[in-house]
Amino acid sequence: MDKLIIQGGAPLSGEIRVSGAKNAALALMCAGLLTSEELTLSNVPHLRDVSTMLRLLAQMGVEVSLDDRLGLSLRAERLSDPLAPYDLVKTMRASILVLGPLLARCGEARVSLPGGCAIGARPVDLHIKGLEALGAEISVEQGYISAKAKRLKAARILMDLVTVTGTENLMMAACLAAGTTTLENAAREPEVVDLAHCLSAMGARISGAGTDTITIEGVKRLHGATHRIMADRIETGTFLAAAAATGGRVTLRGTDPGTLEAVLEKLREAGAELQTGCETISLAMPRRPKAVNVRTAPYPAFPTDMQAQLMALDAVAEGTASITETIFENRFMHALEMQRLGADIEISGNTAIVRGVPKLQGATVMATDLRASASLVIAGLVAEGETRVDRIYHLDRGYECIEEKLAQLGARIKRVH
Ligand code: EPZ
Repeated sequence: MDKLIIQGGAPLSGEIRVSGAKNAALALMCAGLLTSEELTLSNVPHLRDVSTMLRLLAQMGVEVSLDDRLGLSLRAERLSDPLAPYDLVKTMRASILVLGPLLARCGEARVSLPGGCAIGARPVDLHIKGLEALGAEISVEQGYISAKAKRLKAARILMDLVTVTGTENLMMAACLAAGTTTLENAAREPEVVDLAHCLSAMGARISGAGTDTITIEGVKRLHGATHRIMADRIETGTFLAAAAATGGRVTLRGTDPGTLEAVLEKLREAGAELQTGCETISLAMPRRPKAVNVRTAPYPAFPTDMQAQLMALDAVAEGTASITETIFENRFMHALEMQRLGADIEISGNTAIVRGVPKLQGATVMATDLRASASLVIAGLVAEGETRVDRIYHLDRGYECIEEKLAQLGARIKRVH
């Protein structure tokens, strides 16, 4: 298994380009199932999850082609097999996003239950409940969701919880349902808005994306389109947190400051000097960061996907911070690994108390999930001496060539096989 070897202590400096957003790309690829015409996506991030989704779609009969300029074309002319098998779904929960589009397009789907992952149980009950409200007949047996629907019909759906992929699944299904569907208590994440923009370009009639009520007027069919995937706001935040933790000075290009305001606010509170342009963010951290409290919540509040990275910053900050995780029930595994580097972190329930220490000491640590891995890399960049991060396949799922981008910023980091 690959690992990363990091010699800590070098402040990050320089500039890098941010990749397309993983969590937008995965949903947008599934939108390709809604039409028999070609959907072309640009600014596609080269990630393990994107490759897994491509395999899943190709297995269903979707013609896929990747060009060398981060472009991807999908054509779901003939869907021979509307099935998402366990062996693929278990490696990538976002596979659940094929369920709504397959039901709307083919009238049937068999999708393996995603199962839990390191950060929590990750149920999909709200996806199923919403699709049943749209008229689908759904049974769950032998670990598979089997769904059928002659033609989906519009409904008013009030979701008990804010769910990002739940909102995306139902929004895609409702595009081809007869009548006008409303999704209430919908997720407002920028990735949902990016998907709505693409669906509208394909002929869908959607209003309210980005608010908590989305209205979708069903149409008979959708046509092909070309869509540029939004920049990855979590990759952006991750690199900013790394620059802040190492006391560096970086500029990120090809990003969108408007999609991570809550993160920028916290970095300013920690003492970072930030300048933003329409597609750039520059950060300088001239002195030791100040500890900042974090409480994760649905967009536009502080994103759960940035919680681990801010913990790495707080671990070396001046003062004590409390970090509360309200979205997932088990998203503090990185804290236990950071303690191996000398961090002073106490967990009680869904809150972590982080007492900043002047120095971390390098050690061998193990990644457990995507964002936890990123936080351990940040901690390793700050720690004195050598840090080895094992099981970095988690990182490869969501960060494109992270060690190359960090090395471009002056980090002493290398991948060993
Ligand atoms: C999306 O996951 C993201 N993944 C996650 O990013 C992100 O952490 C999460 O949204 C929250 O922002 C993708 O977009 C592919 P949820 P998702 O449904 O949609 C509960 C990463 O690091 N819930 O918004 O699966 C759920 O248990 C990944 O890139 C139900 O109870 O998250 C959680 O507590 C990790 N029933 C809460 O809602 C349901 O049917 C929010 O989950 C659905 C969700």
